[in-house]
Amino acid sequence: MEKTFGIIKPDAVAKGKIGEIIRIIEENGFKIAGLRLEQLSLEKAQKFYEVHKARPFYNDLTKYMSSGPVVVLALEKENAVRAWRDIMGATNPIEAAEGTIRKLFGENIERNAVHGSDAAETAKTELAFFFP
Ligand code: CMP
Repeated sequence: MEKTFGIIKPDAVAKGKIGEIIRIIEENGFKIAGLRLEQLSLEKAQKFYEVHKARPFYNDLTKYMSSGPVVVLALEKENAVRAWRDIMGATNPIEAAEGTIRKLFGENIERNAVHGSDAAETAKTELAFFFP
């Protein structure tokens, strides 16, 4: 069993999509090992996305991620990192496959409904950051 980390982002929480997203996660065979509603401070969002610090979207992204509550998730399944990325879909909702969470609920490349760890090592770091 592998664990990965996910976030339901402020746009999806504000639109009342927590339940639908959790349903998709559970229907895809994940066990929810951790779940918490959290209002990120700007500082915490900046620390979480530190790897993107040099990117032009960093300021907007961290402001947005601290603009309203998010749901942080620890998800467990065989090959969880890959499986969670598959059901999230591509970063940009326009490019995401039909039926993926970002296609269903994402607004644009920044407000893309969910976050997921991109590799097993990242998952460990991100899980430790939110579920110490
Ligand atoms: P996420 O999976 O949370 O990881 C980094 C986030 O940065 C990504 O989802 C998007 O929300 C955001 N992002 C990535 N690329 C861009 C971009 N070109 N413009 C704006 N936001 C971006």
